[in-house]
Amino acid sequence: MASRPLNVGLIGLGTVGSQVADRMLSWGPQLSRRAGVELCLKRVLVRDLAKRRPIEISPGLLTTDASQILDDPTVEVLIEVAGGDEPMRSYIEQAIQSGKHVITANKVVMAKHGPELLDQAAEKNVDVYFEAAVGGGIPLISAFRTDLQANRIERVSAVINGTTNYVLGRMASTGQQEAGYAEADPTDDIGGFDATYKLAILASIAYEIKVRPGEIYREGIDGIEPVDFRYARELGYAIKLIAHTQRHPGRVEARVHPAMIPLDHPLARVEGAENAVFVEGDLVGQVLLVGQGAGGRPTASAVVGEPALVQLRRPHRSDSDRRGENACLLPHPGRRPGGRAGRDRAGLRRGRRQHLELHTEGRVVARPHGRARGDDASVP
Ligand SMILES: NC(=O)c1ccc[n+]([C@@H]2O[C@H](COP(=O)([O-])OP(=O)(O)OC[C@H]3O[C@@H](n4cnc5c(N)ncnc54)[C@H](OP(=O)(O)O)[C@@H]3O)[C@@H](O)[C@H]2O)c1
Repeated sequence: MASRPLNVGLIGLGTVGSQVADRMLSWGPQLSRRAGVELCLKRVLVRDLAKRRPIEISPGLLTTDASQILDDPTVEVLIEVAGGDEPMRSYIEQAIQSGKHVITANKVVMAKHGPELLDQAAEKNVDVYFEAAVGGGIPLISAFRTDLQANRIERVSAVINGTTNYVLGRMASTGQQEAGYAEADPTDDIGGFDATYKLAILASIAYEIKVRPGEIYREGIDGIEPVDFRYARELGYAIKLIAHTQRHPGRVEARVHPAMIPLDHPLARVEGAENAVFVEGDLVGQVLLVGQGAGGRPTASAVVGEPALVQLRRPHRSDSDRRGENACLLPHPGRRPGGRAGRDRAGLRRGRRQHLELHTEGRVVARPHGRARGDDASVP
């Protein structure tokens, strides 16, 4: 195991952040052994220091001053799980500019500013990981970037917003308009915005072009009425909010809207907070990825898995190169010195400037980033 710990600054200690912190603090030895480095949660940025937290955390770890993470040169990784556009976009940009790797669950920032941030990260030779921004705990982004990378992606169809799925499921089973939703509350979920953010991210990765949320056709579920479910069922269909993108010669189609899905189709059977993503590649054919698309613990699963990738990217330097980095503020319960080296470290090699490849037990895991080929309109 590397002797120099990997210092992490965390922004956000809410639904997701508290689970991220909890897993890092309570499962430190296991995570560190798998990552091949001691993971050290050095500072946590919140808005309200006095707020009761669902986990036990040392008050000395908390701060309301972003510079304590962003300007700390010993923090090599920023985990952002606060959400919203600003100031999070600026924080992420600042972290990249000061040479920190970034892990984020922020679909708004990644859908709106992802291409620019990835370009900046490529210039600074750092990475931005955003597995948790789409599909919660389902390993989607990594599937596109690793296991499916030999494929030309033809289409992606997904049920990717748990709230609308829950609301539609309740309407189907009770035959009544859902309270709260009946007021046509134009929230991100009901209006389909959340799904367009996620589809923009997925389509950008699938086709290696920039797909902006504003370019996606969007229709929410506010026009659906209970009677629609009765007619749909009589005809053998369920109603789901579908996010769909498809390759056509020279262009891609991307749309989010309610759709009638045959009852025997796997997407028709996705319930509640579950998400499901159908991917069709020219080599692999159809692949279905299903799992918990939201919730603190599933999302933390996607976030906390990423520091291992950061570790693989770190240059090897002796402890004396960067004095003070070993000062992990919190002792990890049951921390053991030493331990076996991370098995994933064998075979590390860098490809082109924006690419890092790592060979793990026969699989090639690549994290390409930076601007994709082609311009906004053309599809490679
Ligand atoms: N919840 C999910 O199921 C889920 C699933 C996938 C992705 N995500 C994404 O994960 C991110 C976090 O979601 P969440 O549900 O955990 O949110 P949340 O429960 O509302 O927590 C947000 C946290 O960020 C902190 N925060 C917000 N603005 C801040 C600011 N300007 N400066 C410092 N701290 C700030 C809050 O501090 P205080 O606690 O002091 O107020 C809070 O701890 C979002 O991008 C979301 O889209 C969430």
